[in-house]
Amino acid sequence: MRNNIVHFGADKLKYEIRGILKIAYQLEKTGIKMIWENIGDPIAKGHKLPDWIKEIIMNELEDDLSFGYCPTKGLDQTREFLAKKNNELGGAQITAEDIIFFNGIGDAISTFYHYLRKSTRVLGPSPAYSTHSSAEAAHARAKHLTYDLDPNNDWMPDIDDIYNKVKYNPLISGILLINPDNPTGAVYPREILEKIVDIAREFDIFLVTDEIYMQTTYNGTKHIALAEVIGDLPAVSMKGISKEFPWPGARCGWIEAYNTEKDNVFARFIQTLEDAKMLEVCSTTLPQKVIPEIMSHTNYESYHVERCKFFEKRANEVADVLGDIDGMVVNRANGAFYFSPIFKNGVLNNKQKLPISAEAQKILERPLKGANPDKRLVFYLMANTGICLVPLSEFNSNLQGFRMTLLEADDQVFTKTCKTLKKAIEQYINS
Ligand SMILES: Cc1ncc(COP(=O)(O)O)c(C=O)c1O
Repeated sequence: MRNNIVHFGADKLKYEIRGILKIAYQLEKTGIKMIWENIGDPIAKGHKLPDWIKEIIMNELEDDLSFGYCPTKGLDQTREFLAKKNNELGGAQITAEDIIFFNGIGDAISTFYHYLRKSTRVLGPSPAYSTHSSAEAAHARAKHLTYDLDPNNDWMPDIDDIYNKVKYNPLISGILLINPDNPTGAVYPREILEKIVDIAREFDIFLVTDEIYMQTTYNGTKHIALAEVIGDLPAVSMKGISKEFPWPGARCGWIEAYNTEKDNVFARFIQTLEDAKMLEVCSTTLPQKVIPEIMSHTNYESYHVERCKFFEKRANEVADVLGDIDGMVVNRANGAFYFSPIFKNGVLNNKQKLPISAEAQKILERPLKGANPDKRLVFYLMANTGICLVPLSEFNSNLQGFRMTLLEADDQVFTKTCKTLKKAIEQYINS
């Protein structure tokens, strides 16, 4: 090729949640029965949409307009419904005009970072949900800038770290918060959110939050929306139905932009997102059509109460089983549906092993070369037990650990997975 057509940020596009599958599928062909603990898709893990949600969707299929394009920002009545829902929280107020629909938050994320001025940066959490960290890194053509989530403090953001990074790097123009968090399962209390808001206010930068798991909190925690604490600060919240209905295949999410009128530059940036969506015409219509009816249905709240009880049970069971492994730091998940235990320094090394078949050994030979210690563990666990996890170091983190989901629908399979993991990890550490 006479010109190099490869984007400068191309090598930043990594999503190990699916990347790990390349090896997993090869191992599966050797006869290993896989338990997929890598991806946060409730449907793939056997969760059923309740009949009343399916009925609402089916009724909308009678209307031919469900098959057409919709306005670029999304259906007016749905945006009005969502704006009202936000305003009822009593925090930053918006109108339908402040909402733009995307084809899932994934689409919102990639558009958001793509259209940020190249020299500016958004500081994100570490461990990081890869879609945010990769998109930000690709936009900047540089390593994603992160602040620490502290495993020795219930995975809370390290406020001093945020403060210092923002203070000493004038290119940082925004701070990202994922609340409830993927991959840690942490839910941030109001005081933590307020401290981050104070930093953003002091340095005149925006906040962006991913609240896709806002309905999923348990163990006595409650989701505090960013809108409730930002006051007049420019901010964006990303929300969606992938995890909430759950309907990930709908590819439907939206952003809510707060306080655009308070800052012209921020308003112009949000306008850019709308203009970019216009080039694509619009986002998916059918899921937007059903949002108001589903979310205002009398069953909606109790449905989430039940779901949260389910995740609480899973979160506590796995934390209890793995919690007493010597050398691990285990934080109980309180929200979303992920659990990320880590290993204390020096517990993992590049010599440990588990017994695996000769065929599996051959498949792993190359991937094991130079792999981070936690990735090495994940490969061995996959080949020995069939449990497919994601190494924590793949979430833009220096910590060694792994992420598993709390989604397994079958109680017995989940209990067996936890016990098998404990036994295999202990065997691996002591090998
Ligand atoms: C924090 C977070 N944001 C966004 C997404 C993707 O959302 P969507 O399906 O709306 O693209 C995920 C999916 O796992 C997620 O964990």
